Amino acid sequence: MNPVLEEILTTGNTKTADGKTIKVNSQISIEEGVLIQKCIDELQAEVSVEIGLAFGTSALFICDALKKTPHTKHYVIDPYQMQEQSYAGIGLNNLKRAGFGDIIEFIEKPSHLALAMLEEKNVKADFAFIDGWHTFDHTLIDFFLVDKILKTDGIVILDDSDWKSVEKVCSFISKNRSYKFIGGSSQRSYLHNSDDQSSRKSPFNKIKNLFGKKYSGSKSKYGATAFKKISSDDRRWDHYADF
Ligand SMILES: C[S@@+](CC[C@H](N)C(=O)[O-])C[C@H]1O[C@@H](n2cnc3c(N)ncnc32)[C@H](O)[C@@H]1O
Repeated sequence: MNPVLEEILTTGNTKTADGKTIKVNSQISIEEGVLIQKCIDELQAEVSVEIGLAFGTSALFICDALKKTPHTKHYVIDPYQMQEQSYAGIGLNNLKRAGFGDIIEFIEKPSHLALAMLEEKNVKADFAFIDGWHTFDHTLIDFFLVDKILKTDGIVILDDSDWKSVEKVCSFISKNRSYKFIGGSSQRSYLHNSDDQSSRKSPFNKIKNLFGKKYSGSKSKYGATAFKKISSDDRRWDHYADF
């Protein structure tokens, strides 16, 4: 694990560009990071896309795991990254400090514009992580546009899928789209403020059903949910299934 990510996970802090220590917020948990890395490993993914950079925690997990080839690329989308009152460029700086400057392409736009632009550029991604604006409609549009650039057999993970808005999108995907539920991270823990020693030893235990069962929606609350794309969209123009 790279030291920049390790510092965030163990202390809950990170550094500003001028070296000040600040508290990280909004970050994914260790279980979510482990789920991301398992999926990337399984795919041997080289090209990924992420919506929502914040301080860079999920991006650091992703970049750490990507198979490094001359084609490796991580597209990171966030319209607020450079705003002083938001993240002040710290997420991007963390990626550079961790040595991932050469593989990232940062797009400072809202996701609906950025993803459409990637489709227009004919980008094809192995892996996608959705963790931007969490309303139902934004998340659904993120998924819809991610699907346009995700390869068949690629994996998309939706973060915070225990939120009603995101859970509804997961339900839509499982009932309407040619995607297979492959797993979820069941709990969230943060090493720096947790007494839970088991999460230090084995966050893998908290990853459920990877490459297993059917999506069971509200019966199981997943911190993040992973779907594998089975085929391109071949529904009839009037397809609809309740979700
Ligand atoms: C929960 S945080 C992401 C946390 C990050 N994945 C991590 O692990 O640290 C949500 C992020 O979404 C970004 N965001 C908000 N609206 C967005 C939009 N329309 N398009 C893309 N990103 C957006 C915010 O600036 C914020 O960085």
